[in-house]
Amino acid sequence: MRASLVGTRPASAVDAAAFRARFPALAQTAHLASCSLGARSVDLDAAMEAMLADMASEGAPWGRFEDQVTEARGRFASLIGARPQQVAVVPNASVGAYQIASTIDWSRRPRLVTSRVEFPSLGHVWLAQQHNGADITFTASPDEQAQHLDERTALVSVPLVDYRDARRWPVRHIADRAHALGARVIVDAYQAVGVQPVDVTELGCDFLVAGSMKYLLGLPGVAFLYVKSPELVDRTPVLTGWFGRVNPFSFTPDQLDFPPEARKFETGTPAVPACYAAAAGLRLISSLDLVNVRDHVLGLSMLATDQLTAAGERVQAAPPGQRGAHIAIKDRDPVRLAAFLARRRVIASPRGDLLRLSFHFYNDTADVEAACAAIAAYRAQRPESNIHPTPR
Ligand SMILES: Cc1ncc(COP(=O)(O)O)c(C=O)c1O
Repeated sequence: MRASLVGTRPASAVDAAAFRARFPALAQTAHLASCSLGARSVDLDAAMEAMLADMASEGAPWGRFEDQVTEARGRFASLIGARPQQVAVVPNASVGAYQIASTIDWSRRPRLVTSRVEFPSLGHVWLAQQHNGADITFTASPDEQAQHLDERTALVSVPLVDYRDARRWPVRHIADRAHALGARVIVDAYQAVGVQPVDVTELGCDFLVAGSMKYLLGLPGVAFLYVKSPELVDRTPVLTGWFGRVNPFSFTPDQLDFPPEARKFETGTPAVPACYAAAAGLRLISSLDLVNVRDHVLGLSMLATDQLTAAGERVQAAPPGQRGAHIAIKDRDPVRLAAFLARRRVIASPRGDLLRLSFHFYNDTADVEAACAAIAAYRAQRPESNIHPTPR
């Protein structure tokens, strides 16, 4: 049976249309790549213009730059149910992960348990901690991850939503087990924040990282690190800089102090354009009801799953109750397929042997139709490209 948007579409469908109108390029383009990079909004353009105007009017508007960092930090904190003092603004998720790994004393508890669906960024940061004595275990499933925890485990790394097939991991379940054994939990929420409700208290995590450029509708250059108890770290960070000081403007290069709040994990001058973009994106997201957003997105992903499956595609989609904001299809050469789709103004995201199609509140059923039609046109031209057709 085909999924219909009736019933799954949010009551505020008009709001979805109004939201879409803030992304003018969507009139010509089906942007189904928010799992890679969010679409460009009028608000993003306005933010870039505002930065240039600030520079034109003040020359060196450092105070205004700092206001953007403060706004982005505060909005991200409230989005995840945290306090601004628990959030560090970092350049990317890798640095956020490193800041946590490098403060752990692996001699006491050497084990870090991660998973094979970890985004490489974090996986590589964990592996590099072998230099400091960490013993890294890659697991294949949430159950296996929970089973591998023991009293020697210092850190467990869990994706909130798998970047490949968008399966949502049972973070709370893993966190409860980890905490019972005295281990701490870091969550990579990059594929979830901005497109579904995320609450750090409900997740029960100690740390969480997410960046601004995808569903948070900003640009590359800003990510956020949530730290539940920033005052309680084994060691102070070794990657630091003047923004990580108690008073960044004390100008005392021979004194290294750390504030009690998460700002201790910050380093040097932030990427200012990305901070303007992050604040603008977070303002947009703050205007949404994220339960509505999640339901809207799920309706679209179910429609796409049904249509693509009926067309003979091998679709990878988590069960609706465990699904993030994208689905994927198997393909022999997803990069080539993505290029074909882009020429038809359907923007999708290839990863490995998968082509991901992701949905945000600005997407609508016409985007799904456009994607399905373009994929069908590709298969008609290159039937051998579909290596795993679903038996019909
Ligand atoms: C789940 C996930 N984590 C992290 C990243 C990116 O990490 P970084 O900010 O270090 O580039 C991505 C994608 O770019 C991702 O999908």
